[in-house]
Amino acid sequence: QPLDASKLVVEKTHHQKALKKPEELIFGRNFTDHMLTIEWNAETGWLAPKITPYQNLSLDPATCVFHYAFECFEGMKAYKDAKGQVRLFRPDKNMARFNKSAARIALPTFDSDALTQLISTFTKLESRFIPDARGYSLYLRPTMIGTQKTLGVGPPGSALLYVIASPVGPYYPTGFKAVSLEATDYAVRAWPGGVGDKKLGANYAPCIVPQREAMSRGFQQNLWLFGEEEYVTEVGTMNFFVAIKNKKTGQKELITAPLDGTILEGVTRDSILTLARERLVPEGWKVEERKFTMKEMDEAASEGRLIEAFGAGTAAIVSPVRAISWRGKLVNCGLKEHEESGELTMRVKNWMEGIQYGDEEHEWSYVC
Ligand code: COI
Repeated sequence: QPLDASKLVVEKTHHQKALKKPEELIFGRNFTDHMLTIEWNAETGWLAPKITPYQNLSLDPATCVFHYAFECFEGMKAYKDAKGQVRLFRPDKNMARFNKSAARIALPTFDSDALTQLISTFTKLESRFIPDARGYSLYLRPTMIGTQKTLGVGPPGSALLYVIASPVGPYYPTGFKAVSLEATDYAVRAWPGGVGDKKLGANYAPCIVPQREAMSRGFQQNLWLFGEEEYVTEVGTMNFFVAIKNKKTGQKELITAPLDGTILEGVTRDSILTLARERLVPEGWKVEERKFTMKEMDEAASEGRLIEAFGAGTAAIVSPVRAISWRGKLVNCGLKEHEESGELTMRVKNWMEGIQYGDEEHEWSYVC
């Protein structure tokens, strides 16, 4: 049977958690009172959705998720607007990507509208956890795992879809500050025909060593390049944008890598592109999804044509970039020493937050 939101059963907790002070929140460390769970099996399909007190899962050590990484997830946020209403941001986009990720690893797909409705109900139930201050939100983590108890390598005969929620503040503990990157030259994140465009847990664990390596040399994040051409792809777990002045025409260009299968289909990425086409193009900008190389960025930087660069993702929204260490030199990304963000990065952040917090009415904002 298909996923049916009307079958939801709610069991409320008897022990409400104490709320943390917003300024004490560390990303992804605190969770709300409840969780949403939906079991699936190959014989019956999706069972009745449940909201229960937040609790441990109990799984056999042979469960396939632990052995063959049958796991995919989403990252989305709920925001509180000035009237106290709870809003999701483009949940349809997350649901579509979640289904694509699940299908790629032989996990079941589901009705997107039904899960959006369930997440909306769950989020409203947990709304006391959403701080009503700018920069704060409730990070939602829809997750799907294969739960069949088998070491046999095959499509899972059972699965669990669950959603947990974590009140969060600014992603980086240092706040909205420019980060410095190290271009990784010894590892690639994704490759043509691979699964780098899917939100699989298995894509994330291998990112930690390059990130730690970068950290050990004083850089906050690593920059993922691809191929001998050294195409710029992503930064840490985020999509990457750069603003450059065209060498010949002087026209300002906002550029990000194209969705060629090696790039995560970021909801923030897509939103920034759409808003930039609407709002920057009339000002004379060009907005492009195309391949660009580290060499192109370096050349622009040395000729004073690199305007700014930033990472884009749900967790941080935008993350300004100060410099990139590449081939033993430091490529400066357009910020003055005392600046923590470029003007465009700041504008983009304000556009996104304006819609997310409901200050600007927009079809992307989904009132729960
Ligand atoms: C994002 O939202 O930018 C991410 O992908 C980070 C998340 C995995 C914590």
